[in-house]
Amino acid sequence: MLPKILVTGGAGYIGSHACKALAAAGYIPVTYDNLCTGWRDAVRFGPFEHGDLADRARLDQVFADHQPVAVMHFAALSQVGESMQDPGKYWRGNVCASLTLVESMLAAGVRDMVFSSTCATYGDQDGVILNESTAQAPLNAYGASKRAIEDMLRDFGASDGLRSVIFRYFNVAGADPEAEIGEFHQPETHLIPLILDAIDGRRPALTIYGTDYPTQDGTCIRDYVHVMDLVDAHLLGLDWLRGPDHLQTGGSELFCLGTGRGFSVREVLDEAREVTNRPVPVTEGPRRPGDAVKLVSGSEKAGKVLGWHPHRSRLPLMIADAWRWHQTGHYSG
Ligand code: UFG
Repeated sequence: MLPKILVTGGAGYIGSHACKALAAAGYIPVTYDNLCTGWRDAVRFGPFEHGDLADRARLDQVFADHQPVAVMHFAALSQVGESMQDPGKYWRGNVCASLTLVESMLAAGVRDMVFSSTCATYGDQDGVILNESTAQAPLNAYGASKRAIEDMLRDFGASDGLRSVIFRYFNVAGADPEAEIGEFHQPETHLIPLILDAIDGRRPALTIYGTDYPTQDGTCIRDYVHVMDLVDAHLLGLDWLRGPDHLQTGGSELFCLGTGRGFSVREVLDEAREVTNRPVPVTEGPRRPGDAVKLVSGSEKAGKVLGWHPHRSRLPLMIADAWRWHQTGHYSG
């Protein structure tokens, strides 16, 4: 019997790619998702359990039925703008929900978790290259909720022997190179899929949020990581966690997943024009509340400890993979 991994948010963008990679690596990914932002069509690589993280009885039942050896916790609300308008939704939907998950898994005797955190926990840091020891100062409730979950995992590591790998993602992009699954949000807020929508006429134009930032061309800078590289890190993190020598008495280990190289919004637009060989209609708008000027990270620690190398995280390749998926597949249910 292959080992099972409970994948919360397995119907979402990153979670579905993780399920594909887990299945290829000899695990059975069990998706637990309430489909509030995920897609049933994206669950293709293992069983699906419809459920909400707030539902303790349902979670307990799923742990009892499947007996997973570990949890990958992707499920989260993740819209920066929405989190500024409705912070309660984020504290309840991210923090309280994660607490229920942690209590349920520990009650079931499952101690290992790989958790998706975010560079949005940093806030503005004056353009420095970020790493695991940079202080956190989130600018929005989304980032604050993720930081709180990081703290929660550390506390349960000390009290109950929970063992967690925390990944702080930078900007995830691209899609499965086989285009079986990809990035599809409703509503879409992310830069690259919005640019592709503008290119193929699904939207009238891409609005640049702010052209007066203190950067070389006035637009924000982000560090883009290919979703396949990101899920590779999860498998390496899982192996590391389940290895014999790590975090035996509980605790957590943090890794930043970035490339060390940032691209401005205008640079991403130029690259998208180049890769698709199509014009991108663009308008310039005001800054979006909650946006940091520059978020770029190194990945020395993930390279050294886990052996992770983001070799697919080249902007043209990420846009090309996203474009292939964009032209062929979309989810409807
Ligand atoms: N942007 C535009 N126009 C758009 C959309 C985005 O100019 O229509 C700009 C943003 O201002 C930002 C950059 O493109 O400078 C990237 O924006 P995204 O919305 O694609 O991603 P974020 O940088 O906002 O990412 C943040 C966190 C992630 C988190 C994500 C959740 O950094 O960790 O929000 O939505 F997962």
